[in-house]
Amino acid sequence: MSYILETRGLTQVYGAGTPFERTALDHVDIQVEKGEILGVIGHTGSGKSTLIQHFNGLLKPTEGEVLLNGRSIWDEKGKCSRKTRFEVGLVFQYPEYQLFEETIAKDIAFGPTNMGLSESEIKTRVAEAMDFVGLDPSMAGQSPFALSGGQKRRVAIAGVIAMRPAVLILDEPTAGLDPAGRDEILAQIRDYHARTGATVLIVSHSMEDIARMADRLLVMNQAHVMLCGTPREVFAHAEEIVAAGLDIPEITKVIRELNRRGIPLDPSIYTVEDAVRAIRAYKEGR
Ligand SMILES: Nc1ncnc2c1ncn2[C@@H]1O[C@H](COP(=O)(O)OP(=O)(O)O)[C@@H](O)[C@H]1O
Ligand SMILES: [Mg+2]
Repeated sequence: MSYILETRGLTQVYGAGTPFERTALDHVDIQVEKGEILGVIGHTGSGKSTLIQHFNGLLKPTEGEVLLNGRSIWDEKGKCSRKTRFEVGLVFQYPEYQLFEETIAKDIAFGPTNMGLSESEIKTRVAEAMDFVGLDPSMAGQSPFALSGGQKRRVAIAGVIAMRPAVLILDEPTAGLDPAGRDEILAQIRDYHARTGATVLIVSHSMEDIARMADRLLVMNQAHVMLCGTPREVFAHAEEIVAAGLDIPEITKVIRELNRRGIPLDPSIYTVEDAVRAIRAYKEGR
């Protein structure tokens, strides 16, 4: 099996040799499958942001390797290939603070321009990216600074999508949004994935959000990978997850409470639809 992204023994120590030394990643081995949506979860400080910054070479491993399509992203001279920066698109947490151009279109065009694409190709990509994030074409010439927070975030996400990265990584893309804004952004990410077949990594601290859309979940805890697998495989370890201070989906809690009351339902259920099905089957089977 070949993976689009892989880490081997990836270790990141911040402030090595100072009183502030902190191991943010400790010999982490991860495999990301081409075309999957991988949800990355873990409490604050567990190493999620550090991990994803390694995937496009923003950080250099203290130890270990990062492989893109089976090859190290760092060459012998200690440089990260430009290709990596274009193939792995990273949307930072609160990316709206990094907008700087005078129009929305120019801001979105920044990445494609750096890639050295032609004017017409850049135009195509800007229009396409605006469409993906639900920004009306008539807005292209407007200033991004007059937009609402949620709209600014769309512009920032469009700027990364416009590079057509094979891997799109988003760090807490719904942080600070209201429930409607959150659902919209998540639906757009799902749609982007369905339409392009890109590999998507999405960092979140909300199990609820991520479990529904991810093919697999990676649970980080204190610089280590605690669990990795399909949502079902992961939620089968609900006790460990709760013990590590993380939440499980509300419906999984309900099922577990029913288990405690003697009703034998699959404890790894994490969607309301599956729960309804299981409860119905149980009632009919009695
Ligand atoms: N630039 C940095 N310098 C020093 N310590 C850092 C830096 N970035 C993160 N850390 C520390 O590394 C650990 C992991 O942080 P981070 O990767 O941001 O976790 P998460 O995204 O899961 O909240 C935390 O203890 C954090 O304080
Ligand atoms: Mg973070």
